[in-house]
Amino acid sequence: MEKPERKVSSAYHERNSGEQSHPRLERIVDMFLPDGGKALDLGCSALRDTKILLDKGFEVTEVDGDSETLKYSEAIENEKFHHKIAQFEEFDFPTQEYDLAVAINSLSFIQKDKFDLVFARLKDSVKIGGILYCTFFGNNHEWVKNEKSLFFNEEQVKELFDDFDIRRLMHDDLVQNNPAGVPVHWHNIVVIARRLR
Ligand SMILES: C[S@@+](CC[C@H](N)C(=O)[O-])C[C@H]1O[C@@H](n2cnc3c(N)ncnc32)[C@H](O)[C@@H]1O
Repeated sequence: MEKPERKVSSAYHERNSGEQSHPRLERIVDMFLPDGGKALDLGCSALRDTKILLDKGFEVTEVDGDSETLKYSEAIENEKFHHKIAQFEEFDFPTQEYDLAVAINSLSFIQKDKFDLVFARLKDSVKIGGILYCTFFGNNHEWVKNEKSLFFNEEQVKELFDDFDIRRLMHDDLVQNNPAGVPVHWHNIVVIARRLR
C-alpha cells in the first residue's frame, strides 16, 4: 500500500520560500561550526534553511515527505545539494555523517509510535562533536489538542539528549499569524546540542 504523504499547505511552503532563514540558523553556524562540512535539513518545506546552508558552503541533504517540495528543489542548481522525497519514518539515515542536522517544526509530525526510533536515527546521523538544532512543539501550543502531533515539556525534551551536551534550550512562546493570516499561539522548545559520544 502506498504511504500517505505528509502535507502542509501550499501557502506554508510559499511563505517559507520567502523567508530569510530560521532566526538562529546563521548564528548557530557562526558560533558552533566552521563553514562547509555536511548538513541535513529534515522537513525542509521550500528550502529556506537549506539555501542558507548552501551559501555557507555546506553540502546539504534535505528530506521531506511532500512531493510539492520538488517545485523548490528543482530550481536549485548546486552539486552540493541532495533532495530526497521520503517519510522520516522510512528514511535510511546514514551513521555519523553530518556536522549539522537541522529539524525545525518537523519532529512533532513524526508518527507517534515511530518517534523514538526516528529520533534515535536522527541523532546517530550527527558526527561526534557535530550539532543538532531542532524544535519540538511545547505543551502551551494552541494545537495541543491535535492528537496527531507530538507535544513535549522541557523535562521530556532534555531526556531525549542524554548522549548530547545541550548548549542552548529556549522556549519560543508567541502568537504568530499562520499563512492564512489567522493568529496562532505557538510554543516551540528549541534545542541546540552537541553530540558527545
Ligand atoms: C511545518 S513544515 C516546517 C518546514 C521548515 N523546516 C520550517 O521551519 O519552516 C514541516 C515539513 O516537514 C515535512 N514533514 C512533516 N512530517 C514528515 C514526515 N513524517 N516525513 C517526511 N516529511 C515530513 C512536511 O512536508 C513539511 O514540509
